[in-house]
Amino acid sequence: MAYPVNPPLPVDKPLLAALEGRQQKRPPIWIMRQAGRYLPEYREVRQRSKNFIDFCYSPDLATEATLQPIKRFGFDAAILFSDILVIPDALGQAVSFVENEGPRLPPLLVDNDLSELKGEIDLDRLSPVFETIGRVKEALPKETTFLGFCGAPWTVASYMIAGKGTPEQAPIRLLAYRHADFLQRLIDRLVVSSIAYLCRQIEAGVDAVQIFESFAGALTADGVEQWSINPIRRIIQGVRSHHPQAKFIVFGRGSGVNHLKYASQTGANVVAIDWATDPDWAAKTLQPILPVQGNLDPLAVVAGGAQLDRRTDAIIEAFSKGPHIFNLGHGIVPETPLAHVEQLVKRVRG
Ligand code: CP3
Repeated sequence: MAYPVNPPLPVDKPLLAALEGRQQKRPPIWIMRQAGRYLPEYREVRQRSKNFIDFCYSPDLATEATLQPIKRFGFDAAILFSDILVIPDALGQAVSFVENEGPRLPPLLVDNDLSELKGEIDLDRLSPVFETIGRVKEALPKETTFLGFCGAPWTVASYMIAGKGTPEQAPIRLLAYRHADFLQRLIDRLVVSSIAYLCRQIEAGVDAVQIFESFAGALTADGVEQWSINPIRRIIQGVRSHHPQAKFIVFGRGSGVNHLKYASQTGANVVAIDWATDPDWAAKTLQPILPVQGNLDPLAVVAGGAQLDRRTDAIIEAFSKGPHIFNLGHGIVPETPLAHVEQLVKRVRG
């Protein structure tokens, strides 16, 4: 009788291992907004769809965009190509993108009491996103971690209220003071929608998800609990009630000492920090609680040269006593030279 062939050994994904709290010899690396306009091959495929939201809903194009930075740089994680604003879109608030300006939505009106929105997120509208996940999963190298994502409710709501990006998020901050009940109902709708959306991403095959609270820095000390920490905790709990092993990176950009609340009160597996956060403070304060992700200034990569190596080394050194995922402190910017990204990846890999 022939012996059964041994099953292949599970291939370790270094970034997933770091996410689970196992320190790696060198920190694994991915870059926020790694699929985007700094890549000539992205600019090329981007031309195949006039409208950015259509691009997100095209599995062919979104799969290709997701894989491009992996093919070029061999990052340790791929992040799903999509946008945080597909949630309002799937709630019935149509999103468009104006070239060189950004997203546009018909602003929600307080008097309408959310009647512009569907009661539940239309996951059928997002089925191309789940199809993209399946295709990417098939194509990724075994050692590459696959990340899904969503925006945190406060950040997504800021666009839904203002209808566009706004300096210092004044419209939603005013709303939080004038019509807190209304904002709470909107946030609640987004919590439930995000749970459903992230569950489907996990079922389609992502290994972990990042929650982007890009406008955490707009919140006051008391506001951060109500509008950001609590909704994120509810999302994580809600997803884990269906998928107990679900893993989360939480990024409260610009939140200063409140990074500690994201680390200790949300249920996250990893706390991601922006470039203004002191790595020594984060290593001392956050890393004993959770693995840390971050936090090189994206403009240090634009500038390149010897300072890029020096700053990269300093971040790796600061976090060398525990699990660390190397990343930028926010998204890579379109004018970043490719050679500087290559230099960064090489330096991190040692
Ligand atoms: O590589 C990746 O990170 C994956 C895809 C991704 C995009 N947006 C693609 C995108 C991710 C994770 C996002 C998240 C996102 N989108 C955030 C949170 C992260 C952050 O940057 O703070 C936010 C606030 C948005 C909303 C958004 N999308 C804005 C304000 C804009 C316009 C400004 C800009 O950068 O162009 C977008 C458009 C967008 N999303 C682009 C890309 C590649 C550029 C559009 C294009 O190519 O025409």
